[in-house]
Formats: sequence, structure tokens, C-alpha cells
Amino acid sequence: SRLFRIAIDGPAASGKSTTAKLVARRLNFGYIDSGAMYRAVTLKCLENGIDPTQKNNDAKVAKLASEASIRFPRLGSVELDGRDVSSLIRSSEIVRAIAPVAANPSVRATLAQQQRDLASGATESGLSSESQPKGVVMDGRDIGTVILPDAELKVYIIADARIRAQRRFDELMAKQGTAPGESVDDIARDLAARDLADQTRKISPLKKAEDAVVLDTSNCTIEEQVDSIERLVHSRM
Ligand code: C5P
Repeated sequence: SRLFRIAIDGPAASGKSTTAKLVARRLNFGYIDSGAMYRAVTLKCLENGIDPTQKNNDAKVAKLASEASIRFPRLGSVELDGRDVSSLIRSSEIVRAIAPVAANPSVRATLAQQQRDLASGATESGLSSESQPKGVVMDGRDIGTVILPDAELKVYIIADARIRAQRRFDELMAKQGTAPGESVDDIARDLAARDLADQTRKISPLKKAEDAVVLDTSNCTIEEQVDSIERLVHSRM
């Protein structure tokens, strides 16, 4: 039987992946982090000495993407060519080089195919949920618009820019145990630049799907976000 597909899109640091992961855990669905796939391809480029920000490297970036094996062996963990890269892909070096990777049409075509296969259960080993999930949650920028245009549920998560920057700052603080090197203002500037790049690229820009439910998380807890999505799922299942 067909999987129930939840597409979650929205700007950077809006809480998509945290929410998506918790929804997947509660419903025992698989979770596919499409952003992690772009990050993993970027990592593969940098590790092979290919700088994606150099325009004449587009073909090399596309080739590396087509050779990359990306899997989600457990909820929230990412494997690149058989190696766990879950924390490596979260660095600022990756963020600095990712825009041209995400704007590369061949890279997008390669990853789109893999994302659709994962969402249809065609490549079951890639799913992070335990045994035979009834559905999948996929988060990113173009999931509801391009990757799964007929998803059973589409959610577009937004949050005030200042609040997103503060949340990212707190997250870094919690991870490092000390105040991060960047200020909330620095982070806000980086997020704004990344959102602009994502919204204005020619191919698959970040955009709300017409039939997506908008969830503004500026003033709600993670728990409340997860609850609203769970209710939406049950009302459509
Ligand atoms: O979601 P995350 O912040 O990990 O995504 C990293 C980057 O990957 C985004 O800023 C965007 O450029 C790209 N991306 C994309 N399409 C997706 C998911 C992520 O272009 N579906």
C-alpha cells in the first residue's frame, strides 16, 4: 500500500527538521532530510578538492553528486559513501559552499530521483523508521512544489527572522557549551542571505505550494508544532 507522504518546506532555521524528526518518531514514519543530501554532496566536493563556488566546477560537482551514495540508516543520521557524516555536514564551511550545489540542475535531478524513490519506499533501506513505516516525512525547500507535488499533506513552516536567528544561536550555545563566535545579528544576516539565494534561484526556488498549510512557529513550542501536524495527518489519513 502507498505511504502517507508529508512534505515540509520553509526558510532556514524555521524548525523544519526538528519538527519533521519528532513527527516521524511519533507516527513511526520514515524521515528524509533532503537538505542533508545537498550538504552531503557539498561535503563530498570539498573533500575531493572541488570548490563548488568556482563556476567552472559545475560539471565536476554534478559528477560527484551522481557518484555519491547517501543513506539515512537511523532517524536523524546521514551516511555518505558508507560513512556517518551527520555532524560533519553541519559546519559553516558547508553552508558557505552549498548555494551553487543547490542551484546545479544536474545535482537537483540526481537528488530529486533519489528523494522520490525514498518517499515511495522503492529504496527501503534508506528509510530511518523501524520496520515498514506507514508514511514518510520529507523536509526541504521544494518538497511540496517539485519533489512530491501530490503529497498527502504539505506544511510550510515560517517564523519571524529574529526568532529564527535566536533559536539557531541557542542551539549552537547548547551544542558547544559556550557562547558561539557569531552574534545573533551575524546569524540573522547569514540566514537572510541563504533564504534569498534559495528564493531567487532559477531552478526549484523556495516557495509555498498553493495547497500547503502555513504553520507560523514564531510563538509556539516544538511540542505544539508537532501536535498541529499530527492532527492534520490524522484528519487526512
Ligand atoms: O535544510 P538545510 O538547511 O539543511 O538545507 C541546506 C541547503 O540545501 C539550503 O539552504 C538549500 O540551499 C539546499 N536545499 C535545497 N532544496 C532542498 C533542501 C535543501 O535547495 N529540498
